[in-house]
Amino acid sequence: MEIEKSAERKKVTINTLLRMKAEHKKAAYVTAYDFPSARRADRAGMDIVLVGDSMGMTVYGFDNTLQMNMDIMIPHADAVARGAKHSFVIGDMPYMSYQLSDLEAVLNASKFIRAGCSAVKCEGGKAVAPRIRAMHNAGILVQGHLGLTPQSTAALGGYTIQARTDDAISRLVGEAKAIEEAGAFSILLEAVPPEAGKKVSAELKIPIYGIGAGPYVDGQLLICHDLLGTYEGKLSGNIKIPKFAKKYAELGKLEEEAFRRYIEEVHSGEFPSSEHFYKMEEPERPCSER
Ligand code: KIV
Repeated sequence: MEIEKSAERKKVTINTLLRMKAEHKKAAYVTAYDFPSARRADRAGMDIVLVGDSMGMTVYGFDNTLQMNMDIMIPHADAVARGAKHSFVIGDMPYMSYQLSDLEAVLNASKFIRAGCSAVKCEGGKAVAPRIRAMHNAGILVQGHLGLTPQSTAALGGYTIQARTDDAISRLVGEAKAIEEAGAFSILLEAVPPEAGKKVSAELKIPIYGIGAGPYVDGQLLICHDLLGTYEGKLSGNIKIPKFAKKYAELGKLEEEAFRRYIEEVHSGEFPSSEHFYKMEEPERPCSER
């Protein structure tokens, strides 16, 4: 039944996302880093899947996203795109893959597209607008990322909530307009108050998605490890599980419990039992067993 359902489902495209915005339908957006989780998100009906550089923390165990590079990201993008056949897949451009020149930005973005992504995402406002324009001119869909931008947490003073005053919201709107003007097809807003999400959504035409940006945006993103309860990364200083990260399952606990039961059964000899043994072919069996 599951297979029939997914065969009927149409691929989510830019047109689908624009239609959803026009019809005030919220998009469900999640990160995925590998084939199985992408496949499950896709089968569940996820609208957008981000191959996020957050994998630096969720999958690779680093304290931030800065160790990610194109060589690491592309095989993950490839696996996710193979798994998420119907969702709109976005490849997250890692630190220093787009900042240095238009040429590098376009070449690196094209690697995500070749890997099967429908679009790329990059962080920053006015400063990266020329790069967004270059990728847009090369026919590549680009999602901007504003608010808390993890690749520049040093400059922001850490993982801190952004745009908490009227002035800061006005500046955020200015940054957002600059990247809309440069050709971004949508913007992701991270860790800002709902007032900021509302104002940016009201002032721009393109879809605005949020991760910790309140309800007045066109869709919600969550990190898959937060949603599933599988995050094992370091939580210290100002890196905490954020308050918007609603946990929908405790799969990490289930996994650990399964490992414990397996260890117990191996140690006690309960596993493997006869249903896990291979049988010899008939003629080769010893006479005593025929
Ligand atoms: O890499 C990622 O998952 C992201 C989110 C934190 C927004 O960019």
